[in-house]
Order: sequence, then C-alpha cells, then structure tokens
Amino acid sequence: MDTNEQIESILKDLTLEEKAGQLNLIPIEGTPTEEQLQMIRDGKVGSVIKSNGVENNLKLQQLAVEESHAGIPILFQEDVIHGYKTIAPIPIAEAATWDLEAIRKSAAVAAREATASGIQLTYAPMVDVCRDPRWGRLLEAAGEDPYLGSLVSAARVKGFQESNPKNSNLLGCVKHFAGYGASLAGRDYNIADFSERELREIYLPPFQAAVDAGVASLMCAYTAYDGVPLTANKFLMQNVLRGEMGFKGLVMTDWETIPNMVKIGVAANDTMATEMAMNTGIDMDMTSQKYVNLIPFLVKSGKISEEQVDQAVRQVLLLKQKAGLLDDPYVLFNKERETSELLSERNIAETKDIALKSMVLLKNENNTLPIKNDVKKIAVIGPFAKAAKDLLGWWHMMGDANDVVTYWDGIKKEFPEADISYAPGCEIDSFRVAGRELIPQAVKTAKKADLVILILGEEYWMSGEGGGVASLHLPSAQEELLAEVAKTGKTIITVINSGRPYILTEVAENSDALLYAWMPGTTGGTALGEILSGKYNPQGKTPMTFPYHEGQIPIFYSYRKTSHAFIPGISSNRYTTTYRDIQHEPLYPFGYGLSYTTFEYSEIQLSATTMSKTGSLQASVKVTNTGSVKGNEVVQLYLHDKVCSVTRPVKELKDFTILELEPGETKTATFNITPDKLEFIGIDYKKTLEDGEFDLFIGTNSANCKQAVFKLDN
Ligand code: BGC
Repeated sequence: MDTNEQIESILKDLTLEEKAGQLNLIPIEGTPTEEQLQMIRDGKVGSVIKSNGVENNLKLQQLAVEESHAGIPILFQEDVIHGYKTIAPIPIAEAATWDLEAIRKSAAVAAREATASGIQLTYAPMVDVCRDPRWGRLLEAAGEDPYLGSLVSAARVKGFQESNPKNSNLLGCVKHFAGYGASLAGRDYNIADFSERELREIYLPPFQAAVDAGVASLMCAYTAYDGVPLTANKFLMQNVLRGEMGFKGLVMTDWETIPNMVKIGVAANDTMATEMAMNTGIDMDMTSQKYVNLIPFLVKSGKISEEQVDQAVRQVLLLKQKAGLLDDPYVLFNKERETSELLSERNIAETKDIALKSMVLLKNENNTLPIKNDVKKIAVIGPFAKAAKDLLGWWHMMGDANDVVTYWDGIKKEFPEADISYAPGCEIDSFRVAGRELIPQAVKTAKKADLVILILGEEYWMSGEGGGVASLHLPSAQEELLAEVAKTGKTIITVINSGRPYILTEVAENSDALLYAWMPGTTGGTALGEILSGKYNPQGKTPMTFPYHEGQIPIFYSYRKTSHAFIPGISSNRYTTTYRDIQHEPLYPFGYGLSYTTFEYSEIQLSATTMSKTGSLQASVKVTNTGSVKGNEVVQLYLHDKVCSVTRPVKELKDFTILELEPGETKTATFNITPDKLEFIGIDYKKTLEDGEFDLFIGTNSANCKQAVFKLDN
C-alpha cells in the first residue's frame, strides 16, 4: 500500500471523536490513572508525553492497539534535548564546539537511546536565537548568531532523524516558532516585540535550516509576534511557515497555549481559543485537551470543517507512519535493545568527544594550563567540585547523577601521583549574600597546595525553563571565595559549570586560567581532567558574547551600524553609542576561545577584488601553529556590506572551518564567497543583492580578524 493510501484507509474509518483524539497529546507521568487508561481505550489519546521506557510504553501501546476501537498506535514524545540516558553537554555548549559533525553524532546518540526506550519524537532542536544571558532557556539553543544557529539546527535535525533510518530514527520537533528568544529582559514567557526585519534576519533562519533538513514537526512559541500569540498567528503560521518557508510537517502547540489565549485576553473562552488555533492550522494540542473536548462541537456548529480536522489527523498519522508504527506498532519496543543501547560504550565515547570539544578556554596567563604532570599538591575547591546532577543541566531526561563522572573523579584519574585535597568553599544559595562560612577552611586548604583548581558555577535548576536571573554574578559567595583564595598568591585555575554566560570580569582578574565547562553531561569530569592535564587541547569558541557588565545586555557582535559609532583608542567617546562608566567592549567577544598553542594568521588573499552577481570569489588565509603542541583552530569568516539601502550589521558570520595543525605546521583556509553570502533582507522584506563594496574579515574571533575589501558588480 502506498503511504497515502495507508493513511487514507485509516482516516476513513474514524469517527469525528476519534479524529479529535488523534490530535490530543496528554502527559502520563509514572503510573497512569484509571481515567487516562480509559481515555486510551476510548480512542481519545493520539500521543503521550512523559512516559518512558519499553516496559511502560509497551503496556500503553498494547492498550491503544488492542483495546481501542480504531487501534491506532500512540506516538510517544519527550524532551530529549541533549541526551536520553547518556547526557551530552547542554546545547549551548555543543554550539561552542563549532563542530557540526560532533553535534550531529551527539543528536544521533540521543536518538538511539530514546528510540530504544520507547520514544519516537523529541521536542528538539530548540533553535531560538538569544542575545540575553539572563534568559534561562538559552542553554537549549545555539547562542546569538543566526548563521551558526542555522548550521547547528540542521546538524541536530539530521542527527536525530537519520540516526538509523531502519525504524529507530527519532522524529524532530523544531521549536519555538518564532522569536521566543527575544523574551523581554530575560524573563521567561515574557512579551517579545521586534521588527519584521529582525524576525527575518535573526529569528527565522535557524527554522528554515531545520525545515530544509527535513524536520518532521514544529512547535509554536508561548510568545506573541506583533501582538498576536503564535497559536493564533496566521501571518507566521500560514503565510510565512507554510507559504514562504515551505514547511509541510505537523505543527503543535506548546504546553497549553490554546487556553493561554484566554489568559492573554485574545480569546473570550476556551471554545473561541480552540477555534482560533484550528483556523490557524495548528495540528496538535499539547496537554490542554481542548481539541479532544471541543473539536466535535466546533465541527457540528459549523465553526470549523471536518476537512480541517482530517488535514490535522493526516499530519499525525504521517508522523506515526514515519516512526514505523503504522506497519508494526511494537517495532520500537525491544527490551534487549534498550538494555544494550543505554549508556553503551559507543554512546559514552561520542558524548565524551563532544564534551572535550565544548569547553572554552577563556584565559591562560603564563601557560598555567595544562597542569604540569610533576605537580605535587593540588587543592580542588568549590561547591561544584564533587557535583554530579549539576553537570547534566535542566533537561536531563533519564540522565542519572550516579552515572556522572564528577570533576573531582576526572581530576583524580588524570593526576594519580598528586596529593589532592578538597574543600567545598561555600554553600550554594540562590542569593549572593549567603554561604560564606566555609571560606576560611578553603583558604587553609589552598595554602597547603601548590596549585588550586576552583570549580564554581550554578546548579542545574538555576538555568533552563523559568530560570531567568537579574544578577549574572555567580550565585552565593563564590566570587568572595575566589577573591579570598586568590589572596593566598597560589596559582588559580577556575572552572565554571554553567548553563549561561556569567559576568566573569572579577573572576577572570582573580584567576590565572579560566575554563568554561558549561554543563558538560555524563562524561564531564573525564573531559575536564583530560583538558587540565593537556591530553586534550581545548578548541571551543564562545557562541555568545560574554558581557563585561550586566548593564551592556543585550550585547552581541553583529549590531547594526549607527551614526555615532564608538571608536576604540581615541581619548573621548562622549558622543558615541557607548556608556560613560564602563568599557565599551564585552569581556569576551563572540567566537572567542584560546588553545594551548598559538595560531598566526597571514594577510587575506583574494582570488579577485571584484565579483559578479552570478559569480564567486575565493578568500584565503594561511594559519600557522606557532606553539609547541597540536591544536584545532576554528577559522571564522565575517562580511560587512559597506553601503546598503537598509542598515546592516558591522560584521556577520558567513562561514568557518576547523583546521587541525601540528606544531610549526601551516594550512590554508579558503572560503568561497558566493552571492547568497552577500544577500540581505531588502526594504520589501525579500532577499536582495546590491552592488558595492564589502569588507571581508577572517580571524580567530569576531573581534580579532584580518581584513580585505572586494566589490560586487553587475
Ligand atoms: C516548553 C517546551 C517543552 C514542553 C514539553 C514547555 O513548557 O516550552 O520547550 O518541549 O514544555 O515539556
């Protein structure tokens, strides 16, 4: 039977109530209630969230297939954001690798484990571009840049969906469409208000990348665009998503966003909200049960047509078909596969690989790192030294703290000859004032050591959904702890466990070396140990600007040109777009990260200084490893349109490549400049190409580049 025939033959036998049931997604956490079981028997449940494991999901599947009238299998969905049982670094950390193949593989690990455990769809990738580190959810996405974000988005979709096409791929659900990352002031679920130009330049590209990569489904955001909640926003959900972007898959709400429309005040009651969502083309209702309860009434009263309902049901059935459930509802429920897949050797190894690549070396004064292997006494200090769950992040699915290699374990393993002591340093409390009592004991421990490794940061719940913060200084007394330990004059290596960029201005001043570990997942301690010992040379680069001061937020590298530009190095910048009281620059720019070796860039060579609108040109630099160890360098290409009919960013990332260089070795990085790299969203909101000069930058980060100029001509 061809795929459409299979779906149509199921659809034609369904009652209106059963059709509405297919659009219903309910949470079943732990043991199902009798009411939930009855809903399944009655054909009122199409999909389930929060039920995991072959054993649990098989029972529910048997109930749906064998005891409901239509016998349609359930689609099990979950937040498999960065791992299921083997937990990878949080997505913002994965983005810091700039290594798309490692990112794809990491998503494939998650897909193998989740599908082996009875899940067929994940609510990932989350591709919301975010420029405000106060927003807790930025950890799930790829940072501030739409270009990097787009490549990461596509890599993750491919990793989830192509992990093993033989019925063990995990369907993706790209989210949250669109502009949720613009939540005002970093407060979750807040209003977001931005221009159509920003929508198209910044927020849509990573969604387009997911669509082009074949993502199976999409979730709309809690927020509104131009004042209209996404669940009812026909402009975005129809004209843009279906029309311009060409998305053909299923669209679902976020958690209860249908009744939320009543709370927001755009619908008078749930019936009206349900009608609005259906008329906007939202196919699936996450958890509110408004579709299952109200659709039959809306059809019977003529507010929506049965054909609209059929269209949505086709989308659901198509997902079930893609997951292999329509051919064999039990295909994914195999206890043996589950046992052998979870935490398998291969999954651990691939997760460790990306954890190594994700850590960013922010400071390394006097080559403090790597730690020399003859070090005698190390003090490991800090509230995160022995943490386990805090390495897993907010969305850690079935990740278990007992499986985590702690930083302490990782350090002990790498330095077996050293005498290693420990002090917690301070207690963690959400407020900065608390937790000082343990500082004196930490200072004593530091005094007895040759070298101090301070492990600071935030607990897993402090970022993530609802994890907005006003202060971006490390919680509790951690900065005081560091300042007191620094007074001992010992060499200090500071490691930060975190879901967001913190303000590290004083932390960096008080540290000889500073390494951002993010929340590195199950194998985080092993990765840290191998980096500290020099077994692995760090290559991570910041996917987000690290502010110097909270008052700079939002701060990002690709701001539009202004008339009163700040000019570095001059004596007065009074009449410029800057602050009077702090430095203009961030602490660490976008794309920044050090290595244990050094890289030297040649001037840029252009194959031509003019290119035509249908042609291309090549820009290359020679990069030399001028240090004494092998290293990987992420070489970055940025462009700037010098004269344009709309204001353009001073720099935009357009390409990058990773070079692996032995000491003394030189390699050439060549970038192909094609017209699509020069396009912008024109005055009419269409992609446009304009003649004129472009600045071209190639460098080691967004603030440190070589520069050349070329011209686009007819
Ligand atoms: C979040 C989504 C998530 C969903 C299901 C919502 O609150 O915004 O990102 O996938 O819950 O857990």
